[in-house]
Amino acid sequence: MSTLRIENLTVTRGAGPVIADVGLTLEPGKITALVGPNGAGKTSLLEALSGVIGPARGSIHIGHTDITRHSRVARARLGMAHVEQGRAVFAGLTVLENLRLTARTPAAVDEVLALFPELEKRRDSPAALLSGGEQQMVVLGRAFAAKPAFLLIDEMSLGLAPAVFTRLLPAVTEFASAGAAILLVEQFTNLALRVAQEALVVSSGRVTYTGAAQPLLDAPATLHAAYLGTS
Ligand SMILES: Nc1ncnc2c1ncn2[C@@H]1O[C@H](COP(=O)(O)OP(=O)(O)OP(=O)(O)O)[C@@H](O)[C@H]1O
Ligand SMILES: [Mg+2]
Repeated sequence: MSTLRIENLTVTRGAGPVIADVGLTLEPGKITALVGPNGAGKTSLLEALSGVIGPARGSIHIGHTDITRHSRVARARLGMAHVEQGRAVFAGLTVLENLRLTARTPAAVDEVLALFPELEKRRDSPAALLSGGEQQMVVLGRAFAAKPAFLLIDEMSLGLAPAVFTRLLPAVTEFASAGAAILLVEQFTNLALRVAQEALVVSSGRVTYTGAAQPLLDAPATLHAAYLGTS
């Protein structure tokens, strides 16, 4: 399993940089929480990683392969998956059909159903009839079924109650423990930091903290300073 390495990444949108000189390494089996205030550049960073937008400067490597100029499709072939902010299910398809669309193998569908027993019960229901939380399980399940080496998850809690969201987090942990490197963007900062080993805090496009997640939970003042960009 290889690592994903970002160096000096700068992304420009409109008038100026929305991501400036960001460095980050994602390692197999580890969850990195990417947190920061609204407009900090979290979504832009994920988009630059998966190839939705091109960076102005810097480099992205998977192992020894430079993927900075690779297309989205080429990155996906190398194991990159991106659950975008507000991503929806295919409402008219059943749960099983949704999962089969991305599944690497038939067994991958069974693994997702084992991870989410709620979906097993609704496997033949059109996805449109599921609750919001169940639909987010389908969205996550579709990403898991593709068996990515690198999974970027943007705000999967959006529109969900914290109780529903906390149901999704153990599945992310379990998926990471099978070997995936995960970059988790979350508005529920403390919940994200608790499941993560590593943390990256960005504020106004700049890295204000990088390192272990636990110290940010132990010292909320450090997290607060990083949010304000004063650390
Ligand atoms: N398509 C775009 N064109 C121009 N500017 C954009 C575009 N998308 C985002 N921006 C700007 O880039 C900056 C970073 O936005 P981004 O969406 O990456 O932040 P974020 O950390 O994901 O915020 P949120 O927590 O609200 O999701 C913001 O100033 C935003 O206005
Ligand atoms: Mg965002």
